[in-house]
Amino acid sequence: MKALILVGGFGTRLRPLTLSFPKPLVDFANKPMILHQGRERIVKIDNYYADIFLSRSGFQFACLVNFVMRNWYACALYSVEFQYHSGEMMHLHGFIPSIIVQIEALKDVGVTEVILAINYQPEVMISFLKDFEDKLGIKITCSQETEPLGTAGPLALARGKLADGSGEPFFVLNSDVISEYPFAELIRFHRSHGGEATIMVTKVDEPSKYGVVVMDDESGRVDRFVEKPKIFVGNKINAGIYLLNPSVLDRIDLRPTSIEKEVFPKIASEKLLYAMVLPGFWMDIGQPKDYITGLRLYLDSLRKKSSTKLAAGPHIIGNVLIHETAVIGQGCLIGPDVAIGPGCVIESGVRLSRCTVMRGVRIKKHTCVSSSIIGWHSTVGQWARIENMTILGEDVHISDEVYSNGGVVLPHKEIKSSILKPEIVM
Ligand code: GDD
Ligand code: MG
Repeated sequence: MKALILVGGFGTRLRPLTLSFPKPLVDFANKPMILHQGRERIVKIDNYYADIFLSRSGFQFACLVNFVMRNWYACALYSVEFQYHSGEMMHLHGFIPSIIVQIEALKDVGVTEVILAINYQPEVMISFLKDFEDKLGIKITCSQETEPLGTAGPLALARGKLADGSGEPFFVLNSDVISEYPFAELIRFHRSHGGEATIMVTKVDEPSKYGVVVMDDESGRVDRFVEKPKIFVGNKINAGIYLLNPSVLDRIDLRPTSIEKEVFPKIASEKLLYAMVLPGFWMDIGQPKDYITGLRLYLDSLRKKSSTKLAAGPHIIGNVLIHETAVIGQGCLIGPDVAIGPGCVIESGVRLSRCTVMRGVRIKKHTCVSSSIIGWHSTVGQWARIENMTILGEDVHISDEVYSNGGVVLPHKEIKSSILKPEIVM
């Protein structure tokens, strides 16, 4: 079987973070979007990384020794930075992108080739994933668009690879969702219903941002598929994980086109589209608000599975994840729903809630950060207040006593005066 992963798109809603990295490579919960995955798999990935870093020259690393030794959670991957041979300095801020986990899960159910449908920063993705080909024991190829082809056009472009004459169905995945991947169940269900396509669905509170599915709960047959409906249609939505028969390719032209708007509604109208409810946790983390909500859901699920991974102490409220290399000063109050990345320094008396502080950030004394994302290697001055979905890109520097109310700040900026209402600072 084959699989195509949609890794294109410009990730505009997650800017300015995606100005530094393609969306699938942005850190989540201090590390990759994979913590809800099985322990065994992560240990294996640790080993892959260790092998890769040991076998290649030209990289600079830190903390490599601990790589294989550490337990899966205290993942030293986050301590690694390296320099690419291309001459272009690239910091990989300690992530395992979710697609690696997707690829492993695909391999487990017999997928032999994964096609990455790419249009944005292809060189970063390709050079990264090519390293994994041998290690994962699966063929990884790229299908590169010269113009963005949307969510269906890439299938037409990769038609030659997907329709290999075997008649086997193939997987299609959105790359920006975090969930478990019950692919074996998906295959079983797909084979049982005799339709042309199966999509996984999940329930959400705000369905209008997604593709909404109206289905018969018993048979799973989809009556309607409505992408981003303006009026309420239902609360079961497309989770971005599909298994499609090759015949679906006959419905797609080689042009920019949307599988959600043009293909699924048609298949549903012919009563050949089926849906399976995805068990457990799911989130599309492609928007800042959802990224922050995704962190809350994720930390909740981590609390249930292995609460010892979360920080504890009188200065902690609720679920908080602190990387072991982060330094926390005296008299801080942290939580709930906070992730603090590797190498961060949180000075004394800081208050953090509902936020992500990415690798290498320094937050100075008596500052308060809530409902915000502080990008890699940024600094926030003392007595500052950062709130209301403020997103700082990589290497942003906020002066002392500045207030940011929903500021979205592009990478490498210095902010000396307050941002009083939500706005983009270029
Ligand atoms: N190769 C390629 N080319 N990939 C693309 C392109 C493109 O032109 N445009 C988007 N993608 C990829 C994105 O990287 C992402 O992995 C996936 O296609 C979906 O695009 P998004 O931009 O993230 O769409 P969305 O989140 O608004 O909606 C989609 O996902 C929802 C679930 O998260 C739809 O599939 C909805 O129906 C669904 O509910
Ligand atoms: Mg998305």
